[in-house]
Amino acid sequence: MVVAQQDEQVDYGRRTVNWLLGSSLGVLFISILYPIVKYLIPPKLAEPTTFSVTLPWKLAELKANSGRIFRFRSRPGILVKTSAGELRAFSAVCTHLECTVQYREARQDIWCACHNGVYDLNGKNISGPPPRPLEPLKLNVRGDQIIVMKG
Ligand code: FES
Repeated sequence: MVVAQQDEQVDYGRRTVNWLLGSSLGVLFISILYPIVKYLIPPKLAEPTTFSVTLPWKLAELKANSGRIFRFRSRPGILVKTSAGELRAFSAVCTHLECTVQYREARQDIWCACHNGVYDLNGKNISGPPPRPLEPLKLNVRGDQIIVMKG
């Protein structure tokens, strides 16, 4: 009878040690794995619904029938001054496979060199593979400053 009680105490102690070892290995495993997973899967950041950027060029510097690329958030934008002197701004990200578009003075259109996609000066896709128009951006001219906005 005494032997059975000792066996139970030994089993109880062994189980406790096993549980402690097992749980501390689990904690160690999680403490190593968690930072790796957090690094590999970055948190989703909500993009602000409004954003504006003041362009580095003065209105008077822009010649008619020209286009310039600028940085808008982390992506490119394109500012076009038509031959009539109107300003227009769009996202410069092609809606096909996201190449950066450019203004073609000779043809007075917006062109994507990657797969020969063409947009008109309203940003509408008129030939080639782009499936949608360019995303328009709002413009605000204050004196000689040009401010481009989204939202
Ligand atoms: S990425 Fe612009 S046409 Fe294909």
